[in-house]
Amino acid sequence: MRIGTPLSPSATRVMMLGAGELGKEVVIALQRLGVEVVAVDRYPDAPGQQVAHRSHVIAMTDGAALRKLIEQERPHLVVPEIEAIATDTLVEIENEGLAEVIPTARAARLTMNREGIRRLAAEHLGLATSPYRFADSLEELRAAMDGDIGYPCVVKPVMSSSGKGQSVVKGPSDAPKAWEYAGAAGRVRQNRVIVEGFIDFDYEITQLTVRAVGASGRVETFFCDPIGHVQVHGDYVESWQPHPMSPNALAKSRNMAAMVTTELGGRGIFGVELFIKGDDVWFSEVSPRPHDTGMVTMCTQDQNEFELHARAILGLPVDVTLCAPGASAVIYGGMDAKGIAFEGLQEALLVPQSNVRLFGKPESFVKRRMGVALANGKDVTEARDRAKRCAGLVRPVPA
Ligand SMILES: Nc1ncnc2c1ncn2[C@@H]1O[C@H](COP(=O)(O)OP(=O)(O)OP(=O)(O)O)[C@@H](O)[C@H]1O
Ligand SMILES: [Mg+2]
Repeated sequence: MRIGTPLSPSATRVMMLGAGELGKEVVIALQRLGVEVVAVDRYPDAPGQQVAHRSHVIAMTDGAALRKLIEQERPHLVVPEIEAIATDTLVEIENEGLAEVIPTARAARLTMNREGIRRLAAEHLGLATSPYRFADSLEELRAAMDGDIGYPCVVKPVMSSSGKGQSVVKGPSDAPKAWEYAGAAGRVRQNRVIVEGFIDFDYEITQLTVRAVGASGRVETFFCDPIGHVQVHGDYVESWQPHPMSPNALAKSRNMAAMVTTELGGRGIFGVELFIKGDDVWFSEVSPRPHDTGMVTMCTQDQNEFELHARAILGLPVDVTLCAPGASAVIYGGMDAKGIAFEGLQEALLVPQSNVRLFGKPESFVKRRMGVALANGKDVTEARDRAKRCAGLVRPVPA
């Protein structure tokens, strides 16, 4: 693909659907390549909108509104950053040849719902996953738990992210609470859940996998080094790269990642989430876009996950080389307020080999991710220690 001049008739136009912290970095990477970028989100002044050529505020789950905007802006590429999008509209847009959806409209549709991707991975591709059942009522949920799923198990709404509505169930008496919690998670009440057997893994990784045009002129699969991470209540708090793995576990992980990303197709980066115990690997889920735990690549790789995504979607070559061990640690808002401020950056940035990204989100919540600390070190242990220290020194305060 050739790249034109932004804001002129020859421009290469990309529309980001979702403009949070991950979208913001993709926008910056695209801007550096001279791409014209339109950032869409459901609230104004989202991080990615602050660095794009134009921005729009719409409900991206509203198919009619989404179509109207795509017809108005005529982007060459439509790049989803979040799951909650009118994906049936994206399928139509792709079928009509109105725009190319990244990586494919089918991938966006299958991964927005846990049922779509789980059935594809486990039943179609035969990948090892946790045992699972779907339930539409508390009675069905109880039956699944008391039947072949057993305890402990994990209950999740079929449509949710960042651990929302998810709980671990230790015994039959916890079932009503888990059902209620899952149902109340989204803005609209959901009554379908997945219940998964609990996997007692040693560690979990994100296998960033890139589908990009290689030297052969065809789409090839590239693997970044494994990223280790810690999740609290289903939300990532810390990640590092590389995570040490046995050769067997690494080979199995990459084989699974290749199978699922090849099936989803298209071009771009994918975050494949895997659980590992010894040499056993379970597929958990996949996001067909940059992954939050992959923010660590901003200090570890020559081309971070956002630059890899930008290059891949434009049909350009990628290089997944790891340069140095590193870590990331999340900076939370710590309060519910609009327009907060951050103090302590002087002390934070005195931590050796550290860096901070503040996302510029207009509103803070206690547990909202407002920034991230990054750090390198001689090994992952030193990098993790530095990133956590750096994040801890950044203090959100009322403005
Ligand atoms: N079956 C399971 N067994 C053990 N732990 C699990 C299981 N399912 C989920 N978890 C834990 O909960 C975390 C979040 O689960 P999952 O990725 O399915 O939720 P999510 O809402 O999609 O989160 P995110 O959007 O942050 O990836 C996992 O990374 C893992 O730590
Ligand atoms: Mg996940």
